Amino acid sequence: MDIKDILQLAKDQINKASSLEEIEKARLEFLGRKGKLTEILRGLAKMSLEQKKKIGGEANLAREDIELLLKNKAKELRAAGAEKIAETEKVDITLPGLASKIGHRHPLQLIKEKYIEIFTSFGYTLFNTPEIETEEFNFDLLNIPQNHPARDMWDTFFVKGNGYVLRTHTSPFQIHCMKKNKPPLRFFAFGRVYRYEQIDAGHSPNFYQCEGLVVDKNITLADLKGTIQEFAKQMFGHDVKSRMRQSFFPFTEPSVEVDVTCAVCGGKGCPVCKGTGWVEIIGAGMVHPNVLRNVGLNPAEWQGFAFGMGVDRICMLKYGIEDIRLLYSNNLKFLEQF
Ligand code: DAH
Repeated sequence: MDIKDILQLAKDQINKASSLEEIEKARLEFLGRKGKLTEILRGLAKMSLEQKKKIGGEANLAREDIELLLKNKAKELRAAGAEKIAETEKVDITLPGLASKIGHRHPLQLIKEKYIEIFTSFGYTLFNTPEIETEEFNFDLLNIPQNHPARDMWDTFFVKGNGYVLRTHTSPFQIHCMKKNKPPLRFFAFGRVYRYEQIDAGHSPNFYQCEGLVVDKNITLADLKGTIQEFAKQMFGHDVKSRMRQSFFPFTEPSVEVDVTCAVCGGKGCPVCKGTGWVEIIGAGMVHPNVLRNVGLNPAEWQGFAFGMGVDRICMLKYGIEDIRLLYSNNLKFLEQF
């Protein structure tokens, strides 16, 4: 085959090519190591100088032609490919998008955020501690010695065989807090607690508490009262009233319980407040001198108050929820209301 025929053949083949693979095949066939044109160029070695010049020159021109043809055809095919993609994968950017569903914050989360907002505005710092506690922190250091009947106030989940419990209240936070920080202190905590209890409309084996602690000089029950009253107003609205009743907790002396006017009926009396118009939401008191001593503070120098409350109860009261189980059911019909 002479150079002219090879060039013609190459032209036909390249023109017919309908993919980049076919282009590559043609390149190998004519310009590859064993390609038709390459063979001619290789044969030059055996030729006379005259022939070398003539045939060599022709062959080189043919190679340039073929290279150009290959390049142009490849370009053409690539452009066609892009057009095809543009056609088949067309996106109509004028179509309205699929709106993503916006979730709802869980009512307990809403209360948590409100609680954090209120107490940080009072100058308290959040200080959270573990859900698994030693008996020492959950009880002993809070002035609830082993075998003391007061331990029965908390139906405890014990972790098998190692002196740990699932915390029955957030109060051990007070001990951690006083051990880690030097007074004056103003801290609060928020978290899950556990009790070995039958589940019903008012009880759940796990629920949430929040707790606060202030230790300073010359702190009195009046400071506690003012703090709680202001908290209740900010949580439930300004017309809520609160009252303190005397109570007992091993880690406070004196101890009080705080009632607020029922947020569901506004204090008139309803099933939620059992007709009394009042609901108990907070346990509190002045930090017991023994508790201060347990963390190395001198009760003659330092006093404090502490308070703890059930978040679920507050949540139910605030939103008029009658069954605590709803808070743990993940029922969307319920959750989407918040
Ligand atoms: N820890 C108590 C409970 O779970 C609530 C409580 C009472 C917390 C008095 C306090 C407090 O900080 O001073 O029943």
